[in-house]
Amino acid sequence: MAVRNKPLLLLLFLHILLISAQSQDIVYLKALKDSLQNTPPNWVGSDPCGEKWDGITCTDSRVTSITLSSISLSGELSGDIVQLSELQTLDLSYNKGLTGSLTPDIGNLKKLSNLILVGCSFNGPLPDTLGSLSQLGYLSLNSNGFTGRIPASLGKLTKLYWLDLADNELSGTIPVSEGATPGLDLLVNTKHFHFGKNKLSGEIPAKLFSSEMTLIHVLFEENQFTGYIPSTLGLVKSLEVLRLDRNSLSGNVPSNINNLTKISQLFLSNNKLSGPFPDLSGMSPLNYLDISNNSFKASDIPPWVTSLKSLTTLMMQDTGLHGEVPVGLFSIPQIETVVLRKNQLNGTLDFGNAYSTHLQLIDISNNLISGLTPQSSSYTDKLILVENPICTESETTAPYCDPSTEVNSSYLTPPNNCNDSTTCGLGQVSSPSCQCSYPYTGTLSFRAPSFSDLGNLTIYTSLQDSMMVCFESKKLPVDSVSLSKPMKNSDDYLEINLEIFPSGSERFNRSGISRIGFVLSNQTYKPPHFFGPYFFIGNNYDFFSEAPKGKHKSISIGVIIGVSVGGCVLVLLLVIAGLYAFRQKGRAERATKKNSPFASWDPDKGSGGCPELKGAKSFTFDEIKTCTNNFTATAHIGAGGYGMVYRGSLPNGKLVAVKRAQQGSTQGGLEFKTEIELLSRVHHKNVVSLVGFCFDAGEQMLVYEYIVNGTLKDSLSGRSGIRLDWMRRLKIILGAARGLQYLHDLADPPIIHRDIKTTNILLDERLNAKVADFGLSKPLSDAERTHVTTQVKGTMGYMDPEYYMTQQLTEKSDVYSFGIVMLELITARNPIEKGKYIVRVVKESMDKEKDLYNLREVLDPTIGLSTELQGLERFVDIALRCVEETGNKRPRMSEVVKEIENIMELAGINPNAESASTSETYNSNSKGNDHPYLKDSLFEYSGGHLDSSLEAK
Ligand SMILES: *[C@@H]1O[C@H](CO)[C@@H](O)[C@H](O)[C@H]1NC(C)=O
Ligand SMILES: *[C@@H]1O[C@H](CO)[C@@H](O)[C@H](O)[C@H]1NC(C)=O
Repeated sequence: MAVRNKPLLLLLFLHILLISAQSQDIVYLKALKDSLQNTPPNWVGSDPCGEKWDGITCTDSRVTSITLSSISLSGELSGDIVQLSELQTLDLSYNKGLTGSLTPDIGNLKKLSNLILVGCSFNGPLPDTLGSLSQLGYLSLNSNGFTGRIPASLGKLTKLYWLDLADNELSGTIPVSEGATPGLDLLVNTKHFHFGKNKLSGEIPAKLFSSEMTLIHVLFEENQFTGYIPSTLGLVKSLEVLRLDRNSLSGNVPSNINNLTKISQLFLSNNKLSGPFPDLSGMSPLNYLDISNNSFKASDIPPWVTSLKSLTTLMMQDTGLHGEVPVGLFSIPQIETVVLRKNQLNGTLDFGNAYSTHLQLIDISNNLISGLTPQSSSYTDKLILVENPICTESETTAPYCDPSTEVNSSYLTPPNNCNDSTTCGLGQVSSPSCQCSYPYTGTLSFRAPSFSDLGNLTIYTSLQDSMMVCFESKKLPVDSVSLSKPMKNSDDYLEINLEIFPSGSERFNRSGISRIGFVLSNQTYKPPHFFGPYFFIGNNYDFFSEAPKGKHKSISIGVIIGVSVGGCVLVLLLVIAGLYAFRQKGRAERATKKNSPFASWDPDKGSGGCPELKGAKSFTFDEIKTCTNNFTATAHIGAGGYGMVYRGSLPNGKLVAVKRAQQGSTQGGLEFKTEIELLSRVHHKNVVSLVGFCFDAGEQMLVYEYIVNGTLKDSLSGRSGIRLDWMRRLKIILGAARGLQYLHDLADPPIIHRDIKTTNILLDERLNAKVADFGLSKPLSDAERTHVTTQVKGTMGYMDPEYYMTQQLTEKSDVYSFGIVMLELITARNPIEKGKYIVRVVKESMDKEKDLYNLREVLDPTIGLSTELQGLERFVDIALRCVEETGNKRPRMSEVVKEIENIMELAGINPNAESASTSETYNSNSKGNDHPYLKDSLFEYSGGHLDSSLEAK
């Protein structure tokens, strides 16, 4: 009897422990609540864990995390918070109303691993007791008003990963260890020292750095440091970003800084550095170099500069440079910005003929440049040469001599497909998915981005994408994010406004805001690597549906009893939750098996699982090996969506293209299966047909008919040597339109291609267009006929913004991409070129009153501008309808086909004539190109401009 009761007793004992600890936490939380204004209105009742107080997380009914960002909290922190002895995370970021100093008792929170108080108004000194928080991994106190010294005790935090004290009023020197006194040199596991924008002074201690350290970001900008840059810095081989700019550092740059071969962003600007020009030739990954405004000995631009192949940005203003500007400077492949202002550079400026297409700004003002080579003068819209002899000694009116010329002041905001005029209620904003809601807003600041071209749309879309991926993985209630107003501020930080829109509701609740705030304050969200270190400052969110309550009841005896009962129920709940989690895990595993595309195809289990494919042959690996000459290099004709593409010939002489999936790509596996199943059902003369496939020896390959003339892109870019006049372009686009219409309207089930672009339209020997690459295609079930919600896939520039923002895929998304292809067809421009979107380029040049809509400037010259481009205006009209912002304003593909047919008839071409273009003869003066299909009829040209005598007619 006694034995049987033992577990019960144990449970009772545990329960009593729980009651006491839990009731303590509620008391201290209540004290915290009393000390602050605007705490969440659901902070009532007796059980912060069971009843879900916003921002409170518990483990075993003890409070382990408080995250309350951007909810307008104000007041001073009650000292009682330090009694929450199980607390691991405290994040009160972005509450500007929080003031007062940090209590020294904070050292009692022995389990604290995240202390994050970014963007509040805390002040006073940092307590020494911070050094007792031995579990601390993230200490982010940036953007407050803290004063005094950096406590030496922080050196005891052996688990510290992130130390951000930037943007405070901290002063004094950086503490280093001495005897028994700790110092920051002991933080050998810390990756981030972010101390910028303080009043730190004295020398940067040599002892701070050693080869033991694993720092990747050292940001000391905008302090009052003096003395030399310590040569020990050269020992921290892990460094990737170093900012020492805007201090008063002097003396030589230590030569061993050149050992830091992982540095990608380096700022030494605005100091008093002297001695020889530093040698940075070893820093091959360097993207961004700013050493402006120092006092180096006069020297030529060192030759190693042009060998830094990753440079995007070179800032060498007022650094004592003389001699000529090396030609190679402008052909550094990624170079965007070159600033050489205020030096003694002389001679004739020469860009060479291979200058980088990424160049955005070349500022060589205030030098001794006396001339410009003729070929360079054609590239002067990005150039500033004011206050050089070339401008002062002649009366040139060139724009590069005009001090008022604005260069590169434009930057883009990623597209939002909604009208600004969408009428939303007060305080509401139209989201990228065109819904009115109350966004959470704030500013992202990137402290050392690796690029300087703010007009590159790709950068922002990659930021948006990665952010949505993060929010989705954390299951945050976010519908979409929008970025705007990118700008470099006076600290050389890149600032971008961020709006985060709620999903499923027009407003966030407090828990949503705090969870999003934490993902950003705690650096859970990591932007693409080239953005470098960042921080976020959120604005208060003022749109919660209920106002916080000011009053609350004090804890009564009844509450304590409630707590006790609650504790019991909690134990039971935990057990149930455990069991549930266990079952879910099993379910998840089963689901994974089910989703694996080849689970039922395993050849070891016999052929029973193989799909029945109409007309498509299953090849063995050996057969493919033979037909491609063992995948010889000469058979390699390109890289497709998921692997290499080889040319081969079957025993019957038929040419095939073999797409070979890369080993071990599960995404490739899915695409493979999709493509086989789709293609085997699809038969149309404007769609590439599948000959067979190989699923053998661990390989996944698709065997297509070989399309001899390559991609439409090859021809538009001049690579293929096929010249496309207006007639040919019309014929090609009609073919492509018919292929796509077939997929939408006649294939069963209908197929949305999802990746229509000029590299996925192939041209056969008679210039019939064939739509290819179904890797991303999506067949529609009946229920999905109107739209499907999918993970966004496709190619930037061609992607329907509505689909991109809403993830609602419809056939109109293909229509959008097709519209882009139509514009590309007449302009031969990439959809996004030099940061400019093709749709905008066309619309901006367009004037419907004028001949050819005034588009001559943007048309591809090889289209034959001297010929009559009949129907071009109607072509542009339909293309622009295809790229309307909302899907329902775009035509269906059937309508596009009909309109192109009409245009062709108008231009005197029979749209249904087989191989219309081969009957046209061209005066070919081909130089013996041995492309087998060029000989009969297709004109070859090399390079950009055509001799007008060769124009077709
Ligand atoms: C340019 O400056 C260098 C160094 O100051 C000098 O040696 C050279 O003669 C100058 N060249 C011209 C063309 O003035
Ligand atoms: C835009 O940025 C991306 C990512 O850094 C880069 O790959 C691309 O070359 C850039 N495009 C231009 C036109 O500079």
